[in-house]
Amino acid sequence: MIDKIAVIGGGNIGGVCVAEAASRRLARKVALVDVKEPDFAKGKCLDIAEGTPVIGSDTLLEGSRTYEVLEGAQFVINTAGVPRTVRPDGTFPSREELLATNLKITDAVAAGIEKYCPDAFVVSVANPLDAIVYRLHLQLKDQVPTHKLLGMAGVLDSARYKYFVAEAAGVSVENVEAVVLGGHGDTMVPIRSACRIYGLPVTAFIDEETLAAIETRTRKAGGEVVGMLGVGSAFVSPAWSALEMVESIAYDKRKITPVCAYLDGQYGVDGLFVGVPVVLGRNGVEKILEIELTDDEKAALANSVEAVRKTCAEVDKAEF
Ligand code: LAC
Repeated sequence: MIDKIAVIGGGNIGGVCVAEAASRRLARKVALVDVKEPDFAKGKCLDIAEGTPVIGSDTLLEGSRTYEVLEGAQFVINTAGVPRTVRPDGTFPSREELLATNLKITDAVAAGIEKYCPDAFVVSVANPLDAIVYRLHLQLKDQVPTHKLLGMAGVLDSARYKYFVAEAAGVSVENVEAVVLGGHGDTMVPIRSACRIYGLPVTAFIDEETLAAIETRTRKAGGEVVGMLGVGSAFVSPAWSALEMVESIAYDKRKITPVCAYLDGQYGVDGLFVGVPVVLGRNGVEKILEIELTDDEKAALANSVEAVRKTCAEVDKAEF
């Protein structure tokens, strides 16, 4: 059991992370930080704490508007930032359009981690995903090594791909293997050549046209939910996905997981955080897997990496 997990940001994703960590008895203590008044994080934690006798969990919950509750955390899940929300005209922003607002919040998050738990693994969920992880790295590179700093996107995007494939094939989600790589934006790359149902190529079950539609839907799946909810983004599936990464590290599962990880040469990329398959174990990113891709997939990945590079160039320009 983990001694302490700290969740930063008590919005929808953060709230599910805290509740799930308690119900899975994943950690002895779960701390939540949110600056929202009057005492939002405390309120969230009290609500969950008062339910722990019902679910038989002895997880201790502590909410705060300030960062000292991070002290001693072995894992930090960063969800701090504004989510995408539908505009009055029915459109909604891209994840990249959240950058300016969320960068400021990210700098406060980095300062909190540096001060109170520089030894923690950091799993970041805030958007624009790849650029926020990059900013955390710039702020924390002397404290948090790159194998301990990861972004959660690939687990969620791959889960969406799996779900749509399972639905179309009429089989259990457990029968589907699927992976989405690249940035967590509309350029992300569902890897059809690695998509399997019961170990068999997905094309044995689903026709090309349907698969193409599924892949387009996967790339835009976050926006589809934003459009339906009206306020805020998907939150249950992102929270479960972040905890999947925490569990693989905490239990040293060495599960091959698509995560936003630091690349220094793999896939021809240097110095950026991009979604790739990694072995997640007790040291965090234990190994980055360079899987074989078709020429089309390679081109799509290069295109997605360029999109990440562009947003990270904005980060480089932004003041600290
Ligand atoms: C999504 C957000 C959380 O993809 O990035 O739903």
